[in-house]
Amino acid sequence: MEKLIVKNLSKEFTVHTRGGLKINGYDNINFELNRGEFLSLFGPSGLGKSSVLKALFRTYTTTGGEILFYKEDGGSIDIASASESEILGLRKSSIGYVSQFLQVLPRISAVDIVAQPLIEKGESESVAQIKAKEMLSFLNIKEELFDISPLTFSGGEQQRVNIAKGIIAPKPLLLLDEPTASLDSKNTNKVIDKLLEIKKQGVSMVGIFHDVDCMKRISDKVFDMKEKKYANNY
Ligand SMILES: Nc1ncnc2c1ncn2[C@@H]1O[C@H](COP(=O)(O)OP(=O)(O)OP(=O)(O)O)[C@@H](O)[C@H]1O
Ligand SMILES: [Mg+2]
Repeated sequence: MEKLIVKNLSKEFTVHTRGGLKINGYDNINFELNRGEFLSLFGPSGLGKSSVLKALFRTYTTTGGEILFYKEDGGSIDIASASESEILGLRKSSIGYVSQFLQVLPRISAVDIVAQPLIEKGESESVAQIKAKEMLSFLNIKEELFDISPLTFSGGEQQRVNIAKGIIAPKPLLLLDEPTASLDSKNTNKVIDKLLEIKKQGVSMVGIFHDVDCMKRISDKVFDMKEKKYANNY
């Protein structure tokens, strides 16, 4: 990704089970992200941070505005108005999304879950396994847990498996919704170290953090969802 430009983005939710009740999600969102930059969405609960992130991945549609994704080859695509098949293609090649909670199928081991994105990228099974184990060890997952399903892991362990899976073969744009919410400070720092590393490699990221220190360490820009502008002091 060369650049992402979000222009006048707005969302009004319509709740069909309540006779079409309208709920304001967010409006007047404008920001830009360059290659290798980290932008944080900042503001109190309920202001639409997660909803904006979902709009960038197009899990949610929008009611107004544009999300212009400029590719490295010069082409561009408006995520807000692109067709479903264009979106599927763009996600496959270019956009990763790390949700707050791990969603996995039962009976697949932690290592296999983390190795999967590497295998999809063409890495051999054996190399992918080695790299997945390295990533899990780096994030302080005990070796005895590697071969079991993370469904019985603690909240923080599950979150680390989720992050490991999200960043082991990062796509050019990575979206992170509170990736460190259930982690202690030591593991939070480990995750931030990894994010800084992939940022240096040119991965662009949009993230949400509860912890302001964390946000300061990683962010190049902070968009204040309340003031509807970049924050200078945060
Ligand atoms: N699918 C939906 N249908 C209806 N309303 C929704 C939907 N998703 C989100 N909302 C509403 O949009 C608003 C913004 O929600 P969102 O989850 O984006 O906030 P947030 O800034 O991420 O908050 P938090 O910091 O608590 O995670 C809320 O009022 C929420 O109730
Ligand atoms: Mg949220």
